[in-house]
Amino acid sequence: MSPSRITVTELQQRKSRGERITMLTAYDYSMAQLLDEAGIDVLLVGDSLAMVVLGFDSTTPVTMEAMLHHAGAVRRGTNRAMVVGDLPAVSLGGAVAEAVRDARRFVDEAGCDAVKVEWKPGMDATARAIVEAGIAVMGHVGLTPQTAQAEGGFTVRGRDAASARRIVDQALALQEAGCFAMVLECVPDALAKVITARLRVPTIGIGAGRHCDGQVLVTYDLLGLFQGFRPKFVKAYADLAGAIRKAAGEYIREVGSGAFPDAARSFTMPEEEMARLRRELDSPR
Ligand code: KIV
Repeated sequence: MSPSRITVTELQQRKSRGERITMLTAYDYSMAQLLDEAGIDVLLVGDSLAMVVLGFDSTTPVTMEAMLHHAGAVRRGTNRAMVVGDLPAVSLGGAVAEAVRDARRFVDEAGCDAVKVEWKPGMDATARAIVEAGIAVMGHVGLTPQTAQAEGGFTVRGRDAASARRIVDQALALQEAGCFAMVLECVPDALAKVITARLRVPTIGIGAGRHCDGQVLVTYDLLGLFQGFRPKFVKAYADLAGAIRKAAGEYIREVGSGAFPDAARSFTMPEEEMARLRRELDSPR
């Protein structure tokens, strides 16, 4: 029997029981399967797809079609983890109805269990409309990559009382709009502690210290796969970039020398069949 899927209620009960929530990003079937088997609670099909998989220099160019394509693959790779589709900048930049339509596409076309919205002014109304359409919404405050360039770049947010207060208010507004959990990105750990204590819903931190109800990382960072900028809060639990370079280098050398493929990795045919083929090829037509 396959294990039951993690629900919003389960995540919220974790907060009351003081049990941590684990979340990672995923963009494809094979990785989702491995992370699901490892026991991850939530897989976010993040718009970080744009940078770590598609090679753009920010998250904003990713299309809704690309997000759906990858979200469907992640869903097919999971049995237990909750799958969350990240509404991309293109969905959140227009009318509320467009965001609701795209949230519905994540659920209906890709099989997602929930969507995530990044804070910007008015996003509480958008989140409320999606929740009213019957779709679970995760909020995201602090450093919000879709609008980061316009707001001073990829730096820690909420280091002074005034900006910290704004982040508290944004988190409360998204909670009141019906969000079931809140990502806190790149904020001081003391501020994350305050927000975690004030919110009913669980907080999931990335660069937000240890006091959050859960943690999220970009999987390519966790595995040491992403070659670009590595933020201070990232811990690489593996060096897959090194492992891939080594394996590919060995393959290139062995193909060059003829060591690969060897007899054990080749197919045979009966001698008499080969003799018959030769005779046929040698006889004039
Ligand atoms: O897109 C993403 O990967 C995210 C995480 C950083 C939370 O939003």
